[in-house]
Amino acid sequence: MPLTHTLKVELGDRSYPIYIGDGLLGEADLLGRHVDGQTALIISNTTVAPLYLASVQKSLDAHNIRHDNLLLDDGEQYKTIASVGIIIDRLLQQKHDRQTTLIALGGGVVGDITGFAASIYQRGVNYIQIPTTLLSQVDSSVGGKTGVNHVLGKNMIGTFYQPQCVLADTSTLDTLSDRELSAGLAEVIKYGLIRDAKFFQWLEQNIQKLKDRDKEALSEAIQISCNCKAEIVSIDEREAGIRAILNLGHSFGHAIETTMGYGNWLHGEAVAAGLVMAADLSERHRWIDQSVKQQTIALLEKSSLPVKAPTDMTFDQYVNAMAIDKKNVDGTIKLVLLKNLGEAFVTTDYDPKLLEQTINNS
Ligand code: NAD
Ligand code: GLY
Repeated sequence: MPLTHTLKVELGDRSYPIYIGDGLLGEADLLGRHVDGQTALIISNTTVAPLYLASVQKSLDAHNIRHDNLLLDDGEQYKTIASVGIIIDRLLQQKHDRQTTLIALGGGVVGDITGFAASIYQRGVNYIQIPTTLLSQVDSSVGGKTGVNHVLGKNMIGTFYQPQCVLADTSTLDTLSDRELSAGLAEVIKYGLIRDAKFFQWLEQNIQKLKDRDKEALSEAIQISCNCKAEIVSIDEREAGIRAILNLGHSFGHAIETTMGYGNWLHGEAVAAGLVMAADLSERHRWIDQSVKQQTIALLEKSSLPVKAPTDMTFDQYVNAMAIDKKNVDGTIKLVLLKNLGEAFVTTDYDPKLLEQTINNS
């Protein structure tokens, strides 16, 4: 029996567990107990399905749950409304009713699309997150933000819709590429920066272990990250306030992803460059010491992540892309910045000239 850690996202009658452990996909009961009806549709992609679909099917068989699967093309460029349409078509063709459960098996792309489809099919059916990338295990599978991209803006179409459970089997990370593992580390480092200086220091000491996929270190990082996210989501599910700090570096990062073409910069890579830009702008305002920015850069570099924004992006491209952001209020770009290591805040009260300097020097 693998060691399982269970955390909870506390949201009243929409509360749900996050299971974290090595080999959890082999535990049929864990999945089975969260499927209410008799049918399920597993959504995955052409990369992940050959690796892990059979385990999920076996668990559903063990609970006599009828199931089918739908494999999407792999890539951020397929996180579109068209992919949602493909899922809805299949659900209708197979006459799935409101008791059905969608199961997202894959990274954040599959998870975000599946959650969105679940939230709109027949005004909402249950879904379960089985995240298989580090990024999705520490971030996207938790908290109920679902959605797809629009060509003009990242994650511009979506809903808040919580899953029945999150089942993070850390052994699935064994097959993840080094580049994707690093991309996940960007979001892990983000938690240290926004809310947990001690965790940031722990990351500084353990970054090589994480890159070497040391099981204990990875499990610890995933638990601390999920715990941080679960706490914030429990306080502010629909991002009326504090939840926005989870977007440190994302205004810049989303601008990079959108402008460079979805999939060219991985989400985590764009966030890494964005974290440095957020630290830079915070430092230009003298809200943080230069040492905090340097520590951030050093940790990201040790994680094999980019610390420089794309050289061919112009100031106007940033501003155009950042003008389409869900945090903005009445046309003003809202940013998440740092006032200390481990302390982020949301503001519109920054100097536009300093923003321009950050963008032009990044
Ligand atoms: P991804 O889903 O594209 O997965 C990365 C790559 O790894 C893909 O090619 C995938 O097929 C492959 N893969 C997945 N699991 C694997 C495994 N175990 N072994 C081998 N290959 C595997 O990318 P991601 O980094 O997981 O997620 C990024 C997405 O998440 C972005 O669209 C981002 O906007 C979104 N996101 C959402 C939230 C949220 O709160 N909903 C938070 C953060 C990020
Ligand atoms: N990834 C940001 C959030 O979930 O709020």
